[in-house]
Amino acid sequence: MTPGAYVHIPFCAHRCAYCSFLAHEGKREEEDYFEGLAAEIRSRAAEAAGGLSFDSVYFGGGTPSYVDPHRLGRVLGTLEEAFGLCSDAEVTAEANPDDLTAGRLLSLRDIGINRLSVGVQSLVDSELAPLERRHDAAGAVDALRRAVDLFGNVSADLMIGIPGQTRESLLSSVEGLLAAGVSHVSVYLLEIEKAPRLVALRGERPGLFADDDEMADRWLEVDERLEAAGLPRYEISNWARPGRESRHNLKYWTLTPVLGFGVAAHSFDGRRRFANTGTMAEYGQRARERISPVSSFEETPEDPLRRKEGLMLGLRLSGGVPSSSFEEIRATLPAASAGRLEDAFAAGLLETVSGRVRLTRRGVLLSNEVFQAFL
Ligand SMILES: C[S@@+](CC[C@H](N)C(=O)[O-])C[C@H]1O[C@@H](n2cnc3c(N)ncnc32)[C@H](O)[C@@H]1O
Ligand code: SF4
Repeated sequence: MTPGAYVHIPFCAHRCAYCSFLAHEGKREEEDYFEGLAAEIRSRAAEAAGGLSFDSVYFGGGTPSYVDPHRLGRVLGTLEEAFGLCSDAEVTAEANPDDLTAGRLLSLRDIGINRLSVGVQSLVDSELAPLERRHDAAGAVDALRRAVDLFGNVSADLMIGIPGQTRESLLSSVEGLLAAGVSHVSVYLLEIEKAPRLVALRGERPGLFADDDEMADRWLEVDERLEAAGLPRYEISNWARPGRESRHNLKYWTLTPVLGFGVAAHSFDGRRRFANTGTMAEYGQRARERISPVSSFEETPEDPLRRKEGLMLGLRLSGGVPSSSFEEIRATLPAASAGRLEDAFAAGLLETVSGRVRLTRRGVLLSNEVFQAFL
């Protein structure tokens, strides 16, 4: 279980209408931020006292492709020096299509990025507008093609439930991604609760928004289409050509340690979960003063709880979990929860196949109900 490193880059050219990630518009604080990051990486490596190297690094954001690639290169250098990087490490950067000029792509490759995860959201201009995306569909397709040519290993994010989206328009976006040659797709249901501008739009024009049943039908169609195109689903929100699954993201679902660096980054060291401060000013100050940026620890769950968490995470994967682990945990549950799981099997939400328990397609759509049994 080789650990991974997550590095948060909290800068974006523009804050999109729907986004609740920690990201600031512009790069005024860039210089200080990267100094802080280097200091954090070094002091945490000193605390870890050696023996740890990463086989995946994930620059998430915000928009890592928006900052000067050499800054990301220096972060990789610091990680390598302070901890160690495996020679075949998967190194991903999240990217916005706007940034992916031929020159920027070359720089990203040259500093050691070998996988891109591009925020596309939709390939329909009239859907990109209410999201306040700055690229249009044609620009995103061009960027994806250039990225696929140079990197091969390219993922794209799509969203279901964008105002004005229809089943047909969603499927046309999926076709566009496939034609551009991406080998991994992440599909999210648009959440608007924390997006006041979209909540207001829903108040004014509710007909632009899909209800839950319609969202579920769209999801099923996307799942079928991607599978037919040779990108089966390997996790609730992720599809990939076999061999192109994200090594880094798989660590979250298999309880493999991932250390998070940067503002608001979360870590799991194999035993404890903890989070860095979510305030830029505080992060910068702590880094300058060489004080740990960790601001909260989750209680360390005792073994049975940790195993229950592991089971829930494992059920997110399409391969599911070994029946023996499932049965062991089920035996520890109160009667009402065990009954809930019985009901989930009877309703066709869970199934046992070749010694493993997994969610069915319908079970994925109702996964929150299934997971209630473990809470
Ligand atoms: C950090 S962004 C990706 C990189 C880059 N910042 C961009 O947007 O192009 C991560 C992804 O989260 C998804 N996302 C963000 N806000 C969301 C929301 N409110 N509901 C569902 N998905 C969301 C989007 O698909 C987005 O591409
Ligand atoms: S979706 Fe991406 S580009 Fe838009 S605000 Fe969020 S992190 Fe920034």
